[in-house]
Amino acid sequence: MAQMAALTETQAKEYMNARPKYPTQWYRVLASRTTDHKVAWDVGTGNGQAALGVAEYYQKVVATDINEKQIALAKPHSKVTYIHTPTSMSDDDLVAKLGGENSIDLIVVAQSLHYFDLSRFYSIAKLVLRKQGGVIAAWVYNDLMVTPKVDSIMKRLVDSTIPYRTATMNLAFDGYKKLEFPFKDIRLGTQGRPKALNIPHKLSLDGYLGFFKSWQPLVKAKEQGQELLTPSIINEFKEAWGDHKQVKDVSYKAYMLAGKL
Ligand SMILES: C[S@@+](CC[C@H](N)C(=O)[O-])C[C@H]1O[C@@H](n2cnc3c(N)ncnc32)[C@H](O)[C@@H]1O
Repeated sequence: MAQMAALTETQAKEYMNARPKYPTQWYRVLASRTTDHKVAWDVGTGNGQAALGVAEYYQKVVATDINEKQIALAKPHSKVTYIHTPTSMSDDDLVAKLGGENSIDLIVVAQSLHYFDLSRFYSIAKLVLRKQGGVIAAWVYNDLMVTPKVDSIMKRLVDSTIPYRTATMNLAFDGYKKLEFPFKDIRLGTQGRPKALNIPHKLSLDGYLGFFKSWQPLVKAKEQGQELLTPSIINEFKEAWGDHKQVKDVSYKAYMLAGKL
């Protein structure tokens, strides 16, 4: 349940970023499941958040992304090597850049797997993942839980996006329940039965509303001429939030799939 913190307007601005930070405990648990701790691979690294998280537990992290701009903006770390891997890169080249076959102890895919060409990715992952003691984990987060009042407005908004969503978006909305994941169960979420988790976060009203600006289902609907985030729904959110200076403890629903060869 959301609690309220009595913060000033300036402090509330610090809670504008709707993107959550993955709990450090997830990295600890995953690291406890791999036999060795030499190399981790963060695929679709974006700003490098998961790469930095696993760097605590592995001697070296290779973090890759098809988007060169993301790589340029990712946070530097002495243990993390960022590599731009355009889709034009051959599989052999990618495997070599990752250190060769049977070389990766942990593969992490944070909020990215639904974008991938899965058959291509899985064949590469199966080559580079250590056959003994290697683990692959992927997670996705979707619903943002604030208060029952705010969440019921959000549910209506989410439902209104259904006609505009792509198949890729639906994989994420379904919490990876329908995503193929051909790895052996290690009881941290498996194909058809992802593990439900929570990501706690703090958010200001401005941060919450700002989240919708780049929210893909709304962007897609807008591209098709439909503005779903109407002034009236924004007002409903504002009213349901209460004092706009209040920063709330919110929670994202997340789902994990993890396995071994
Ligand atoms: C939503 S972001 C997630 C970034 C980061 N992992 C995080 O959790 O904050 C998805 C990322 O996947 C990258 N991506 C999409 N398709 C990819 C692919 N086939 N191989 C590698 N990265 C890919 C995108 O460029 C983007 O940076």
